[in-house]
Amino acid sequence: MNSPVMQGLNLQAPGYVKNAKLIAWVADMVALCKPDQVYWCDGSQEEYDRLCQQLVDAGTFRKLDPIRRPNSYLACSDPSDVARVEDRTFICSQKKEDAGPTNNWMAPAEMRATLQPLFDGCMRGRTMYVVPFSMGPLGSPIAHIGIELSDSPYVAVNMRIMTRMGKAVYDVLGVDGEFVPCVHTVGAPLEPGEKDVSWPCNTTKYIVHYPESREIWSYGSGYGGNALLGKKCFALRIASTMGRDEGWLAEHMLILGVTSPEGKKYHVAAAFPSACGKTNFAMLIPPKGFEGWKVTTIGDDIAWIKPGKDGRLYAINPEAGYFGVAPGTNTKTNPNCMASLDKNVIFTNVALTDDGDVWWENMGPPPAHCIDWQGKDWTPEIAEKTGAKAAHPNARFTVSAVNNPALDSDWDNPQGVAIDAFIFGGRRSTTVPLVTEARNWVEGVYMAATMGSETTAAAGGAQGVVRRDPFAMLPFTGYNMSDYFQHWLSLGKKLQASGAKLPKIYTTNWFRKGEDGKFVWPGYGENMRVLKWMIDRIEGRATGTEHVFGVSPAYEELNWTGLDFTRDQFGKVTSIDKAAWVKELQLHAELFQQLSYHLPAELTETKAQIEKRLAA
Ligand code: GTP
Ligand code: SPV
Ligand code: MN
Repeated sequence: MNSPVMQGLNLQAPGYVKNAKLIAWVADMVALCKPDQVYWCDGSQEEYDRLCQQLVDAGTFRKLDPIRRPNSYLACSDPSDVARVEDRTFICSQKKEDAGPTNNWMAPAEMRATLQPLFDGCMRGRTMYVVPFSMGPLGSPIAHIGIELSDSPYVAVNMRIMTRMGKAVYDVLGVDGEFVPCVHTVGAPLEPGEKDVSWPCNTTKYIVHYPESREIWSYGSGYGGNALLGKKCFALRIASTMGRDEGWLAEHMLILGVTSPEGKKYHVAAAFPSACGKTNFAMLIPPKGFEGWKVTTIGDDIAWIKPGKDGRLYAINPEAGYFGVAPGTNTKTNPNCMASLDKNVIFTNVALTDDGDVWWENMGPPPAHCIDWQGKDWTPEIAEKTGAKAAHPNARFTVSAVNNPALDSDWDNPQGVAIDAFIFGGRRSTTVPLVTEARNWVEGVYMAATMGSETTAAAGGAQGVVRRDPFAMLPFTGYNMSDYFQHWLSLGKKLQASGAKLPKIYTTNWFRKGEDGKFVWPGYGENMRVLKWMIDRIEGRATGTEHVFGVSPAYEELNWTGLDFTRDQFGKVTSIDKAAWVKELQLHAELFQQLSYHLPAELTETKAQIEKRLAA
């Protein structure tokens, strides 16, 4: 503690911090990053309000109208820092094979040598915030603790919403508890007297994971999954490797409860790729024709799933808030979400209206004028002429789960909820039918493993390109993808051997388009019709029709009360075009080629069976 860089710096940890390893690590990181100040977050409301005010004073936050949007703020990022950077995300395992062909890899020693000069002095002129957080209910046996050191107060306040953040974490940590160390910097040190910008970041970015030592190092971005390290970095990439070692699953899944009019409750976990409908499905309001049905939210993005003593799979949501896509959200598509956004929200990269509120594309009628996410004047006329968007397509809201009127009473239950069905759903304008049930676990794993989806604005890079996105985990599996498939297969086999009934597995596609380029399936609340069919299958009430790769419903098997959806339209979203599927199987073959190292034989066998049925 006596090194010269720390002189005059309040390094003293608060008395309630007793973990020697933590105190030593913070000292080391202070010596490396050289912040001007160290601030230990306590997670209190007073602290949140104070940091938000500080962000307002710094020009990062704009306080919204206190009547229209109480206690809410708008942040607009640097235009170069608007989404996850998949090409700058690294899994640095000792062996390249352990990261696998779907992850960027660098040897740990080489990465450490690369990062050392970048982190050296990276926090000069800034405050280092020590952010203690728990993924999962505090003190629960399934929860894990992380400490994020960040020079971004925006990160600190977002982490307070997204995780169980604060002082109580130190009680759980005790003197010798384990935590995942997460170091984050925007990579923009300030020279003495240099004026800060409203969204500091660096054109150089590194989102780095060391799975063996369970460390996260993030450089150069202040946005979302790049910077809120509890989310994708910890709860998916690091947690998936923990799950592989310990026999559980960390998945990019929403978790919902669905209760029938008779009061029977089911739980469903669904993996859709980024910006493909998890938040929407998790908050679904059953439409006309489903009186008495109720859907409740346990989680909207991440599930940790562990086998229980009874052989069933129990899921918890490790998060405490939603970092959701704003554009497209409105009172028709997702009323529960809109209600969640009434107050206590941080908006990022949406537009500011002249009356101090927010607006985004498809929120409702456009305002005659607003300030777009880049601070420019925006009018419907300008948009018409230039195509300018008021909100960035990956604009997001950060809001606490307790704001959600449809929050499930078990959302915080450390035991989790027993899963009855898994859904894997991509965004495909062609080829993939509305819903298909796998005939068994292996076929379900095959469906999930070979899932394709059109890319969205949630990640930097090209949009609308079909890529394979196994389990909606392509950017989030922290180890070799083929080993991950094997982990799913082995877990299924083990549970089955114990006599347990495994969850059914489905694949869905809400996104088939007609010749007019428009979605044929109405989606959103109407997805309840598909969910109900799944429950009918679970209960043995629907027979379905078997085809080359699974079982799909006949038109008559869905409840159409309250929706005008013809047999012809149904055909458009469920038809299986053999020629298109022959091509699709070629894409599966390419994926399997890429993943050939450790690829489970069951999957190649399943593929051969589908090909045989296609050729018949
Ligand atoms: P991440 O937070 O990025 O992991 O995304 P998410 O899967 O939670 O995505 P979200 O529910 O926020 O949906 C993102 C986009 O998909 C929005 O533009 C929605 O309007 C659109 N969307 C969601 N559900 C449906 C649906 O059923 N049909 C159609 N056509 N679009 C949908
Ligand atoms: C996703 O991209 O899947 C998200 C948003 O949920 S972020 O937290 O930025 O990764
Ligand atoms: Mn996500």
